[in-house]
Amino acid sequence: MSSEWSAGYVTDVNYTSGYYPELSPIRCRLPLLTAGHHAPKIENACELGFGQGLSVAIHAAAQSGVKWWGTDFNPAQAARATEMARLSGSDAKLYDEAFSEFCSRVDLPDFEFIGLHGIWTWISDENRSVLVDFIRRKLRPGGVLYISYNTYPGWSSAAPLRHLMKRHADVMGAPGDGIITQTGQSLEFIDKFFTLNPGHLAANPSIAERLKGIEKQDRKYLAHEYMNRDWTPMYFAELEAWLRDAKLTFACSANTIDHMHNLNLTPDQIAFMQSIPDPSLRETVRDFCVNQQFRRDYWIRGPRTLGGHEQVTALREERIVLSAQQNALPTKVQGVLGEAGLLDTIYPPIFEYLSDYKIHTIGDLEARLGPKGVTLAQLTSAISILVGLSAIQSVMGGSEIQKAKPRTAALNRAIAELAISGGDISNFASPITGSGVSAPRFHQLFWMSKQAGGKTPADWAGFVWQILSAQNQAIVKDGAPLQGDDNLVELTSQAGIWGEQVLPVWIALGL
Ligand SMILES: C[S@@+](CC[C@H](N)C(=O)[O-])C[C@H]1O[C@@H](n2cnc3c(N)ncnc32)[C@H](O)[C@@H]1O
Repeated sequence: MSSEWSAGYVTDVNYTSGYYPELSPIRCRLPLLTAGHHAPKIENACELGFGQGLSVAIHAAAQSGVKWWGTDFNPAQAARATEMARLSGSDAKLYDEAFSEFCSRVDLPDFEFIGLHGIWTWISDENRSVLVDFIRRKLRPGGVLYISYNTYPGWSSAAPLRHLMKRHADVMGAPGDGIITQTGQSLEFIDKFFTLNPGHLAANPSIAERLKGIEKQDRKYLAHEYMNRDWTPMYFAELEAWLRDAKLTFACSANTIDHMHNLNLTPDQIAFMQSIPDPSLRETVRDFCVNQQFRRDYWIRGPRTLGGHEQVTALREERIVLSAQQNALPTKVQGVLGEAGLLDTIYPPIFEYLSDYKIHTIGDLEARLGPKGVTLAQLTSAISILVGLSAIQSVMGGSEIQKAKPRTAALNRAIAELAISGGDISNFASPITGSGVSAPRFHQLFWMSKQAGGKTPADWAGFVWQILSAQNQAIVKDGAPLQGDDNLVELTSQAGIWGEQVLPVWIALGL
C-alpha cells in the first residue's frame, strides 16, 4: 500500500538498513584515479533517497571534512537517519522531503558529490527529470555523481517475472494485507503457475533458478525491489541520454573488480571491445558480454583526463590501509569468467608490508615492492582488486581523522545500543577510512563490553549473555537454540575469536 505523498513508492514497510561504500567520496578517489580521471576535492556531498540512512549517517560522522545533505521522503526512515546523525554529533542536514521539494530548496550549497543508490529504477520519469535538473544545477563542474540502476540486457529474461509478481499483487492483493503478505502471495501464485510449465519458462529456463533465489530473499527488500509502481531498468545508453542534460560523462564502474578486463571478458571479447571507437557503444557491448543486472557507476561533470605523470603522482600519494583480518586475507577473486587465484609474487608481499595495519601510501608500497620486480601498474591492478574485495581501503587526511574520532565513537555506541535489543544494523563507522566497517550484532556487543572495561573473552561473553538471557534469547547453532550455559560457552569461544582476529583490525581502523 502507498500513501498520497509516496507517488506509488512502497511505504508501508521500511527498507533494510544497508551500508553502501560506493556512496563514500573518500572511496571514489581510487577508482577514478585508476581510470585516469582527476578526483576532485569533495567538501559538500548529498545523498538522494538515503533509505534508513545508515550510509549517510556513517559518512557524515566519519568524514569530518565533508558536509552532508540528504533526503528520503519516508518520514520514519528520515527520523531514524536524523537521530543517528544527531547522536554522532555530525552536522548532516537530513530531510523527509520528496525529491521535488528538496531539490528546490534555496539553502543548498553546490555539491562536488551527489549519490543515489537504488533509486533511479524505482521512480517515475517525472522524478527522474527532477533529479537530472537538480544535478544540472547543483553538481559543480568536475563533481562526481554515483548512480546505481537495474540494467538491460541483464534484466531482459527476468523482467517478465517482476511484471507477474506486481500484476498479481495489483489485481489480487487485498490492501489490508500489507505489501509483505502480498509479496508472499504473488510468489506462491507464480510457484503454482510455473508447475504448469508455461512456454515463457520453457524458453527462459534460468527464470526457475531466479525464482528460487527471490524466494530466499528478505521480504522487505523484495517489496522495495519488485513492488513499486515504477520499475524501469535501462540500457546504458538510455541512462546516458538522461544524464546528458546535466552535462555528465561516464567515468568508470564503482566496482573496481569491473575494471579488470581479464577477469570478466575473454581475450577475444577484450579485442572486440577495444576495436569499438565509441565509449558508449563499448559500455553497451560490455553489458552484453557480462550480462550484469545492476550497474554501479561514477559519472563526472566535465571529467579531466590525467596526464601520465599526473596520474602516477596522484596514485603514489593515495593513502591506504589493510582492512582484512590476518586469517582472512584473500587468495582468490571472483570475476564474470569465474574464480582466479591472486598471484603469489604480488599479493603476499603487499599483505606483508601492510600487515602492520598502519597507513601507507601507494608510493611507499611501490618503493618496497619495486625492487622485487612489481611495477606500479601491477600494484594498481592488485590494489583495485583488493579494494573490490574490501581488503584494502582508502584513508582520510590526518587532521580529518582526529576530528572524526569522537563522532564515530558516538555513532558506534548508538548503533551498539540498538544491538542490545536486536537491531538490524551490521556496520560501525571508521574515522580512518571514513567508511563503514562490517560489525555483526555480537561483535558490536563485545566491543561495547570492552569499552565499558571488559578485558577478557570471558568478560565480553558474560556481558552479552546477560543481555541475551534478560530477553529470553538464546544462540541458534546448527539450526537449534542452545540451552543454558552452552550459550556462555559458545559466546566465550566467539568472543575469543573476535578478540584475536577482528579486534586488531578494528583498532587499526580507529574503532
Ligand atoms: C530502494 S530504496 C533505497 C534506499 C537507499 N538508497 C538504500 O540503497 O538503502 C529507495 C528509497 O527512495 C525513497 N524515495 C523514493 N521516491 C522518493 C521521492 N520521490 N522523494 C524522496 N525519496 C524517495 C524511498 O523512501 C526509499 O527509501
